[in-house]
Amino acid sequence: MKSTISVLKADIGSLAGHHMVHPDTIAVATKVLSEGKKQGIINDFYPTFVGDDMEFIISHNRGELDQKVHELVWNALKEAANKAKELGLYAAGQDLLSDSFSGNLKGMGPGIAEMEIEERPSEPFVVFMADKTEPGAFNLPLYKMFADPFNTAGLVIDPALHDGFKFEVLDVYEGESIALNTPEESYDLLALIGTPDRYIVRRIYRKQDNMLAAVVTTERLNLIAGKYVGKDDPAMIVRVQHGLPALGETLEAFTVPYLVAGWMRGSHYGPLMPVSQKDARATRFDGPPRLVGLGFNLKNGRLVGPSDLFDDPAFDEVRRNANIIADYMRRHGPFMPHRLEPQVMEYTTLPKVMERLKGRFTKEEGSKKAKASIYTSTESNE
Ligand code: 13P
Ligand code: 13P
Ligand code: MG
Ligand code: MG
Ligand code: MG
Repeated sequence: MKSTISVLKADIGSLAGHHMVHPDTIAVATKVLSEGKKQGIINDFYPTFVGDDMEFIISHNRGELDQKVHELVWNALKEAANKAKELGLYAAGQDLLSDSFSGNLKGMGPGIAEMEIEERPSEPFVVFMADKTEPGAFNLPLYKMFADPFNTAGLVIDPALHDGFKFEVLDVYEGESIALNTPEESYDLLALIGTPDRYIVRRIYRKQDNMLAAVVTTERLNLIAGKYVGKDDPAMIVRVQHGLPALGETLEAFTVPYLVAGWMRGSHYGPLMPVSQKDARATRFDGPPRLVGLGFNLKNGRLVGPSDLFDDPAFDEVRRNANIIADYMRRHGPFMPHRLEPQVMEYTTLPKVMERLKGRFTKEEGSKKAKASIYTSTESNE
């Protein structure tokens, strides 16, 4: 029988700013999901959070984008948002962009990463969840895990990985996708995914047998809502071992606190810091962007685990480096390249400030109007 792992998540409001999920809101959501488990809609679930994002790791046998599973989660998130309102939590209901449920969670605000798989005799997998950044933030580590032999020794050593992987990349602005094979199309792949705001690695398959290995949430709230409603803090599921990257090869990809877009007001580059569950709270400048990794096994549709993978002194030095980088980036204050580029700032409140200055410019003698506004990303605005 096929099993489905679903990671479904949303910011339903948080304690003391965009800081952390309140335990009472998780408690009411857990009640709803427990009821769904009793009714047999889902087999198992693990509720958790990273910063202000509530996350549910769920196992079931109903396939991807299943109406019943999604409706159950929608109800859990709604109840949690009601609790958030009752407690006066900040930005209660933030990511729930629609009032009524219709079919599945797509386009409603919550992030969705799901994989329907044939369970292996041992089915180890990791759920990575980040706060204060966006789905494209996983492009770099996914490339390292599945295509870089300096990260993943198995690409060289293990014949099962040696043929490489297929990356499915989504262009979020055009709404189209492309599949590229590694190692032979690595440079083409990098030409796209080096622009993580636009091109997002959505799924990865093992080339030799098309086995699904990784799935990422790709929902873009700003593009759904047409305005800034927080960052699309991402999550992903990565299967490991037995012809896939080893657990430690997936974790190795996070040993450089590389810069991601997000952090304060979703408007700044900052280092991604891998942390334990207990440190998964946004603090300094609403960050720095944080990552949690939970390791599970799936057995007969049940979740075994988790192990809190970054709760480990082996990552202390990464965190120290992240803090050094955070200090350095912060010293740029409102200047790029700490602050994001103007095309991306279009979805924040900065254009409103620019609007106020509109009548204040005086024309320069003999100067020509440039073609496009710097605040225009996809269309020219002549
Ligand atoms: P084991 O021999 O402990 O299974 O380890 C194999 C492996 O993949 C280590 O990275
Ligand atoms: P979230 O997407 O995590 O709610 O972040 C919003 C924000 O603006 C933080 O400064
Ligand atoms: Mg928030
Ligand atoms: Mg968040
Ligand atoms: Mg968010």
